[in-house]
Amino acid sequence: MVRTLIAGNWKMNGLRASLQNVALVSDQLARLPDEADCLICPPATLIREMAGLAGPRLHVGGQSCHPGQSGAHTGDISAQMLADAGASHVIVGHSERRADHGETNDDVAAQVIAVQQAGLTPIVCVGESLAQRRAGETLRVVADQLAGSIPDDAADLPQLVVAYEPIWAIGTGEVAQPDQIAEVHHHIRSVLTDRFGPEAGQIRLLYGGSMTPENAGMILKIPDVNGGLVGGASLKAESFMAIYRAALGLD
Ligand code: 13P
Repeated sequence: MVRTLIAGNWKMNGLRASLQNVALVSDQLARLPDEADCLICPPATLIREMAGLAGPRLHVGGQSCHPGQSGAHTGDISAQMLADAGASHVIVGHSERRADHGETNDDVAAQVIAVQQAGLTPIVCVGESLAQRRAGETLRVVADQLAGSIPDDAADLPQLVVAYEPIWAIGTGEVAQPDQIAEVHHHIRSVLTDRFGPEAGQIRLLYGGSMTPENAGMILKIPDVNGGLVGGASLKAESFMAIYRAALGLD
């Protein structure tokens, strides 16, 4: 049985003043049963301070990294640097990175290796655009992204996380329908199992895209959904913790 992971992606949001939310999150986690994992990925500028405030139950992660360890790459940050700042996870291949920075599946695969070599857990994002869904290409697009973004020698499968984030559901308030989520998550699980064998059953599959306290309970009950990658609703402790509580079956 894989442990549920509720992960927040703050994207390019948050100044030091936002860290007051982290104190609230840690405080609430300490009062809840330890039955699901909790992670926040803030902008890199906040990782170190957040890790200092997080307490034992809250993990802190990065939102991307350069595949190299160090060198002449102005503005980039390596996985080792994220680890040094206190991160335990790194999101890689988010659709916003693929769109804004032209990151390809090959780039993402190189990042997965760098993240694992730094001893951290990669969260590999996949998901189709609205045009691809309308053209009936969703399952093929997602399978291609999995094939290209996860290297053959991905070490330590139980420490690998995949997030399915349909691009049309990100930040739009339009959440995918339960049957759409169920179909794609089942497909991801079978593609990974065909490739890696039964151990792929331990890879956590997160859903991301307009997850809120209102829809989280329903989404987290869908088979092969092992957690959520939450954008907007992770910025406030109240809504983020309401999603975490839904993962525990509370409320
Ligand atoms: P929203 O929850 O704001 O739709 O963002 C989802 C996302 O992209 C998380 O990585």
